[in-house]
Amino acid sequence: MHKAAIAPSLMCADIFNLRNIIDAFEAEGIESLHIDVMDGQFVPNFCLGTDYCRRLKAGTAIPLDIHLMVTDPAEKLNAFPFGAGDIVSVHYESAADVRPALKNVAGRGATPFLAINPDTPVETVLPFLDLIGGVLLMTVYPGFAGQKMVEGSLERITALRTLLDDAGRPDARIEVDGNVNYEKAPLMRKAGADLFVVGTSSVLGPGDTGENVRKMRALLREATEDRS
Ligand code: DX5
Ligand code: ZN
Repeated sequence: MHKAAIAPSLMCADIFNLRNIIDAFEAEGIESLHIDVMDGQFVPNFCLGTDYCRRLKAGTAIPLDIHLMVTDPAEKLNAFPFGAGDIVSVHYESAADVRPALKNVAGRGATPFLAINPDTPVETVLPFLDLIGGVLLMTVYPGFAGQKMVEGSLERITALRTLLDDAGRPDARIEVDGNVNYEKAPLMRKAGADLFVVGTSSVLGPGDTGENVRKMRALLREATEDRS
């Protein structure tokens, strides 16, 4: 089972305090920065873009975890700066065939993840196992921060973990995204998740960022011990 890792969702970060927040993440050894990209078509919202990613890369060594909520991702990938160490998630629902986009990500040295919405069956990932390093399992419908976890998400995490293990991919990671709060994160960990997108409902909510990270890490560590 992968070590639990944390990917703060920067769309939830206070833009007037962003440098201090990133400094705190560097001090706490945060593994990835979750960048929500939205084109107003795949989801009814717009969010972070290519220049934002470029500036982040120039200002911190923390790898990017780019979540593409865009239609026809294969056409848009080249506008983004990513490479070895980065994760790029492509939504299964965003194109007739997402294999070209997943191959593009891998071809540039990054790790492709397949993102699936709450109403997409977990079995959907099976034909893509040769192309992906993990699955971004959405625990809310994509597009907006501050939502509540969709009923049945914990069972989906467990079902996906079992599916991946049985398909000979115990190495494949499970990232969860949406309403990952201090109460639900341990349950998601016990269910089999290993990469946690944290936003308004925890680390980038009220309180000191560094303290929030340490609190989340302690909760995830405890949940891991319970699980083993
Ligand atoms: C929603 C985004 C999430 C969101 C998480 O489409 O993918 O990353 O920002 O934020 P909270 O923690 O508020 O659900
Ligand atoms: Zn996201």
